[in-house]
Amino acid sequence: MSVPPRSEYLSHVWAKDIFANRVLFITGGAGTIGSAQTRAMVHLGADACIVGRSVEKTEAAAREIAKVRPGARVLGLGGVDVRNFESVKAAAERCVKELGAIDYVVAGAAGNFIAPLSGMSPNAFKTVIDIDTLGTFNTFKATIPYLVESAKRNPNPNPSGSTGGRFISVSATFHYTGMPLQAHVAAAKAAIDSLMGSVALEYGPFGVTANSIAPGAIEGTEGMERLASSKVSKRDRTKGVPLGRWGTVRDIADATVFLFSDAGSYVNGTTLIVDGAGWRRQGGS
Ligand code: HXC
Repeated sequence: MSVPPRSEYLSHVWAKDIFANRVLFITGGAGTIGSAQTRAMVHLGADACIVGRSVEKTEAAAREIAKVRPGARVLGLGGVDVRNFESVKAAAERCVKELGAIDYVVAGAAGNFIAPLSGMSPNAFKTVIDIDTLGTFNTFKATIPYLVESAKRNPNPNPSGSTGGRFISVSATFHYTGMPLQAHVAAAKAAIDSLMGSVALEYGPFGVTANSIAPGAIEGTEGMERLASSKVSKRDRTKGVPLGRWGTVRDIADATVFLFSDAGSYVNGTTLIVDGAGWRRQGGS
């Protein structure tokens, strides 16, 4: 079966308006994966606040995404660096002021470059840990009061509408095996997965869920463009995926919708791996 274009997102799996009157807050929402996640949520009824470092890119992405549904409110907040807690906190406050709530959060902002350990300075390693791990923590910290509120208003399970109070971080699979040229990212993502487990334990009693999505090789992303142009060629990566193809941004958007939807109500403190089982061969077997 062919994958329908995103303009026909409602076609065969998800129901219209499942996220009506709900608000998504997403860091890295102007990126390739982040904008697909946001488009899906907005298409299905949510309003959204996209947070990013570049003002121009973030505002342009918000304008584009708003077009997917008449009446959608999509706010683009640029100039926000997830490494700076106050900066994320101000963005969360602005989101609530303008859109009324934060019901769902995606911590998607990430930093990456290809480098062997021998060519990685302490500051290079720290930079990725700061963007990925500390950035996810900062995003959690800045939004958790609103998620707790949302979970109170829209309890889990909720017979009369979507539940609220859901946190998703974007992880990876590199730390399952270790990964040449990606030691910094692997370490950062391992910490993120661990953090989601702790959030699930501490905030589950408040009705909040926290999970990671671990994308495999997703075509068209900045990360894979960089990896594919390095020693790990696209042909080799595709060959290594048991399903025989790279993932699409829609695969990640669908996983996001699932975890935020009522279908994902009881999924908490885990990682949803969306990689065609590629990680099982990434060590070279
Ligand atoms: C070695 C490098 C390097 C490289 C930067 N550094 N690039 N070291 N090889 N290719 C070092 C610098 O020399 C410096 O260390 C330190 O890292 C910080 O670099 P800055 O340029 O000052 O940092 P900054 O401006 O904050 O930029 C952060 C960045 C950049 C991560 C380096 O690439 C960035 O902003 N990226 C955001 C966008 C992005 O990467 N998106 C892709 C995410 S994909 P010294 O010691 O010299 O001071 C992703 C998916 C992963 O994460 C999974 C893929 C499948």
